[in-house]
Formats: sequence, structure tokens, C-alpha cells
Amino acid sequence: MNVLRFDSEAAWVNGIACLWRDRLRLNPRLRMCLPSGHTPNKVYETMGRSVTSGQASFQEAEVFALDDFGGLALDDPGRCRNMLRHHLLNRVDLPKERFHFLDTEASDLERVCREYDEQIEKAGGFDLTLLGIGLNGHLGLNEPGSAVDCVTRRVEMAASSVKSSAGYLSHSNLPTWGVTVGLKQLLASREVWLLANGAKKAEIVARTAKGEVTQDVPASMLRQHPNAWLIVDAEAGAKL
Ligand code: PGA
Repeated sequence: MNVLRFDSEAAWVNGIACLWRDRLRLNPRLRMCLPSGHTPNKVYETMGRSVTSGQASFQEAEVFALDDFGGLALDDPGRCRNMLRHHLLNRVDLPKERFHFLDTEASDLERVCREYDEQIEKAGGFDLTLLGIGLNGHLGLNEPGSAVDCVTRRVEMAASSVKSSAGYLSHSNLPTWGVTVGLKQLLASREVWLLANGAKKAEIVARTAKGEVTQDVPASMLRQHPNAWLIVDAEAGAKL
């Protein structure tokens, strides 16, 4: 896994946005898998400004949401798809029909998952996947113990993920399950950027990069990927 370390959070945000603009310039039809959560928000907002100022365009690109929580109201701002809309999609020129997300409340969830994977595969897989990292090393909602070849599916959330979800919600009805793109599709992405900022990620970032490659730390599986980048600010990279 390549490691890119920036001296400050501001440099980290600008560095990632700069790389991202570059990828979009090289391939305007970039197919991306994108996370929500706190990690990417400033990067997303910077990309919004890049589009407004004509430095980038998502017009021909395609976005697949990485995951979503189950059991929340469709318009709950803490839903992954709504966070993604708020911080990125409402600010860029991606046509609505090129945003794909998982309908967690569908009666046949198994079918929704199969169709999502088919859509991803039919499109040719992901060119670029951005990921945050959970405090337990999860990727999306692929919690510790997830198999490397797991596909898009319903999952029960780990206790630490349930607890973290409170940070996105304005109520105490925390989700206990969700739907996530599987490690199979994430590891098949042509390029993967694992983003981490802030001191509270330092421990899990160090385990991911220097500990054992193990299913118990799903992010460590990215070390077997030929084009994965761990992109950290000084605080998150402090124990590397
Ligand atoms: P965060 O979540 O970006 O809100 O820290 C990351 C994750 O749990 O995957």
C-alpha cells in the first residue's frame, strides 16, 4: 500500500482534491464508489468549489454510494446517501441518473444487492474508490471478519459502528444494520484511496499499514491491492 502523508488537514484536503481533479481530467467518465461519514466532507466541499470554478466536472462520471444504514427515514440527513448528496452531489454537475444508491427499505433486499453488483459489473467495475476507515478497521460496513470475496449485502453493524453512527444523527434511534458494497468489488477497483484524518484514527491507521494483514482488520486487506493509497494527515499518520 502506498502511503501519502500531508503535514496538515488543510494540505490533506487540497492534496486529495488535486489528485481527484486530475483523475477526472484524465478520465471524465470515471466510475467511482464513494463513502459518506465525516472523513470526506471537506474534500467533497472542495470538489464542489472546483466544479463551480470550472476546474473539474462530474458531468460524464458515475457515482455508486458505498453503503447505507437500514431502518432510518428516507429523508434522514444521517443516511449515507443524504450525506453524500448534501456534501458532494448537490454541489457538482453529476446528472441525477448517474448516482446509484442502495434502497435499504426495499421488500426484497437480496435482489437490490444482486442488482447493485450487476450494475457495477455491467459498468465495468470501479475506476476509483474512496474509503474512510472505521475505528475497528471496517471498510464501508464490511466489519471485522468479512471475507475478501464478500459481495454487496445486508450486514449487522459492529457495536463500535453503531456508536459512531450517533455522530451523523440528530436522534437516538441508532441503526444496527446496513447494506454495503462488498470487499470483492472494493478490492477489484482499479484504484483505491483510503482516507484518514485526525488523531483518533492514528491507532487503526498504524494497525492497517503495519500490523498483520487479516480479515479482523478489513482495511489491512488493501495491502494486497496493487494500487491502493493510504492518504493521511499528520495526526492520523502519527503512529506510522
Ligand atoms: P468517519 O467514518 O468518516 O465518520 O470517521 C468512517 C467509517 O466509519 O468508515
